[in-house]
Amino acid sequence: MTKNKNLIIYYSRTGNTKEIAELIQSMVGGDIIRIETQEPRPANYRKEVEQNQFEQGTDFLPELTTVIDNFDDYQNIFIGTPTWNMALPQAVLTFLRTYDFSGKLILPFNTNGGYGTGNTLNQIEGNINGAKMTSGFSVKGGEENKGILFTIEGIHKDGVSTKLDNWLKQNYK
Ligand SMILES: Cc1cc2nc3c(=O)[nH]c(=O)nc-3n(C[C@H](O)[C@H](O)[C@H](O)COP(=O)(O)O)c2cc1C
Repeated sequence: MTKNKNLIIYYSRTGNTKEIAELIQSMVGGDIIRIETQEPRPANYRKEVEQNQFEQGTDFLPELTTVIDNFDDYQNIFIGTPTWNMALPQAVLTFLRTYDFSGKLILPFNTNGGYGTGNTLNQIEGNINGAKMTSGFSVKGGEENKGILFTIEGIHKDGVSTKLDNWLKQNYK
């Protein structure tokens, strides 16, 4: 067992954050796991917007099917999330509140529809038991409100890869 084992954990509805997670894995290696909820999420965008707002407003924590058995083995935890209503999807909070991050290095990454990370990075930082967190990596992904679902491809993907490479050089030793 190596001490520097990487876990790349992410939440993704339309594949943008997933794509970044896979790019990170191709660059640094490690295990990759998707956060999934017990209850399927609404397929309809408007319904998801409403349900998410309700969950954020009531601090409801959706149950997950995702279980990480050997969490203690990981030293570097890359946590990927989209911005939802300028904050974390509550499923990511369920994940954060389930595990003890003490002594680990947290490397957060984000995609959003153009309004930025919002509160997502602060929320991650506030739920990792004081573990060290690097600066976040964030790029524009989809704009589902305009029917644009997945964008990390072609020339945009090339630009994202270069930016990601630089972020890793600065934050991942
Ligand atoms: C419920 C919901 C709420 C969203 N809220 C925001 C937001 O507040 N700001 C923003 O820039 N993008 C917002 N978006 C757009 C997503 O952050 C963006 O499409 C992201 O790339 C999706 O990542 P994914 O493809 O990994 O699911 C929202 C999307 C959804 C589905």
